[in-house]
Amino acid sequence: MLRKIMVTGACSNLGRSVVQLFELQSNVEVVALGRDELDILDEAQVIATVERLLPSTIINCAGFNDVVAAESRLSTRLAVNTRGLCNLARTAAKFRVYLCSFSSKFVFNGKSLEPYDEDDEKWPLNQYGISKQGGEEMVSNQLENYLIIRSDLLYGGGGDDWVSRIKEELGAGRPLPVSDDFFIAPTYIGDLAAATVALVSEWVAGIYHYTNDAGPGVSCYEFACEVAARAGLDSSLLKATPMREMDFGGPLNLPERAILGLDHFKKMFPALVRPWKQALASYMG
Ligand SMILES: NC(=O)c1ccc[n+]([C@@H]2O[C@H](COP(=O)([O-])OP(=O)(O)OC[C@H]3O[C@@H](n4cnc5c(N)ncnc54)[C@H](OP(=O)(O)O)[C@@H]3O)[C@@H](O)[C@H]2O)c1
Repeated sequence: MLRKIMVTGACSNLGRSVVQLFELQSNVEVVALGRDELDILDEAQVIATVERLLPSTIINCAGFNDVVAAESRLSTRLAVNTRGLCNLARTAAKFRVYLCSFSSKFVFNGKSLEPYDEDDEKWPLNQYGISKQGGEEMVSNQLENYLIIRSDLLYGGGGDDWVSRIKEELGAGRPLPVSDDFFIAPTYIGDLAAATVALVSEWVAGIYHYTNDAGPGVSCYEFACEVAARAGLDSSLLKATPMREMDFGGPLNLPERAILGLDHFKKMFPALVRPWKQALASYMG
């Protein structure tokens, strides 16, 4: 029997990769809906679309991810992370649909010396993190059959990302300040899409962490240096800068070392977790 999967936010970087991978599977019918086809903030439209398509699965790749802009755009686009999720969760409950959505390490405060487990205490430090925590709760409070995948800084997928920004700035000979005390597990979107396919294919439920493996975390500066080296660009243009000296255009609290623990995912799909440098190398060639 064909499994019908409806992907919302299908034009996002992640959405395109997820759709591409599911389209390779013979037992799946993918219905890819960009924002023009379905605005998840419009509850009536969400209900009408699910009623018409009757998917067994919704994968939501829509979101507002600009952490800096999120501090000043509370009432408008940020709502997609919470109210949008609420609309999807309520509709999924009504039609008994399995819902998968994506969250972020920004639900944690980054003060732990150890990688975070899925059920560790959430303590977001900024509006983006609060909106992602809200979205998680909209889903977990209304559904039993759901999957939330938390991840870290994503690159790849064909759109604008941090790798292309580093290449652009250094390629133009412009110095680029990069934080050396903000730690990440940079993650190739194609790998996150493959992890999503693996989890969704098995109807896995609950909250899971997935990133490329960066051990205790790599600083943004170290990541940028690796990008510069792989692209043959001048890494001396990268200026190692403490977070407190970075210009975000306004005050912004960031979780300095919120690294997502991968034990649960690794137990199920160990072959799908690879070191961040290997993933970056295969992306950049
Ligand atoms: N990017 C990261 O580093 C990162 C890290 C961890 C987790 N995540 C999560 O992964 C997911 C995908 O991220 P991404 O980086 O691939 O996203 P992205 O490329 O920034 O795209 C976001 C997409 O959401 C769409 N969208 C916004 N509001 C919408 C609405 N009301 N209805 C339907 N679609 C809407 C946007 O459409 P328009 O372009 O038309 O506005 C856009 O296509 C998000 O949940 C994000 O929070 C991302």
